[in-house]
Amino acid sequence: MTLSDFGHWAQRSQGAVDAALDAWVPPDAPAGLGEAMRYGVLDGGKRLRPLLVMAACEAVAGDAEAALRAAVSVELIHAYSLVHDDMPCMDNDVLRRGKPTVHVKYGEAQAMLAGDAMQALAFEVLTPEQGVAPALQARLCALLARAAGHAGMAGGQAIDLASIGQPLSEVSLRDMHRRKTGALLQASVLMGAACGEVSVPVCTALTDFGAAIGLAFQVVDDILDVTQPSETLGKTAGKDVDNNKPTYVSVLGLESAQAYANRLRDEAHAALERSGLRDVAALTMLADKVVEREN
Ligand code: IPE
Ligand code: IPE
Ligand code: MG
Ligand code: MG
Ligand code: MG
Repeated sequence: MTLSDFGHWAQRSQGAVDAALDAWVPPDAPAGLGEAMRYGVLDGGKRLRPLLVMAACEAVAGDAEAALRAAVSVELIHAYSLVHDDMPCMDNDVLRRGKPTVHVKYGEAQAMLAGDAMQALAFEVLTPEQGVAPALQARLCALLARAAGHAGMAGGQAIDLASIGQPLSEVSLRDMHRRKTGALLQASVLMGAACGEVSVPVCTALTDFGAAIGLAFQVVDDILDVTQPSETLGKTAGKDVDNNKPTYVSVLGLESAQAYANRLRDEAHAALERSGLRDVAALTMLADKVVEREN
């Protein structure tokens, strides 16, 4: 796959995810809730998690309809986590995806409810009455729930808030990042793979791939927070120092953090090779994007 083939593939896949989100995030939820949900989910975001779901599904020649639902559900959980992450009781940010944050635009209570409703909608999307086999529905729900909940994103966010002003060890920092960000990226890969038939060794290799890019993603997020301006990020630059958060940059320094992200990319590529899967070009390029992105 050339870079331009990858660009076309990503554009097509993103288009399918955006159309599905537009169709499934309701405009008419009561009392303005639908408007706040759509504001937080639509038109914005790199859609990296949905792309991982679809690339993993294609690598195992899986069920495309199930993968589209899985892609939308992961993006809904991610968007909900961003809405809550930006609230004054968490990171207190006013800019997200180049726009005022949901609580700035609609108020704190509506932002909280929009996040709550996005989370529930994610599981509704995964459990249609027809079109996805019941066993696969259950498997996708289990993978997503584990990644979103206390052991994954929500637990990692709790550690993040408890770590303000703390000098974390590298081991604790890694654990926090794996949970708050890595878990959902890893789940994206595994949910895509679950849409097809995979042997245990393939599943193990994709689990390793997901772990490597999941951690790399937050290492790079920490780096971009200090190296890019707000206009490029679409969110407030320098927020981690302002909020006194321990990050890969504060713990390792910029150069070592970048070297670590590069090493994780190599680990991700090695895991794909170990998988023995032939159609992994999109996954390979997504791993590159995780580390080479500018926002
Ligand atoms: C930002 O995620 C929050 C983290 C988990 C680090 P993204 O950088 O994927 O945000 P969007 O979806 O592109 O806005
Ligand atoms: C976000 O980490 C992790 C989430 C689960 C949302 P950050 O707080 O660093 O994400 P940004 O930088 O605000 O996007
Ligand atoms: Mg945060
Ligand atoms: Mg934040
Ligand atoms: Mg950040």
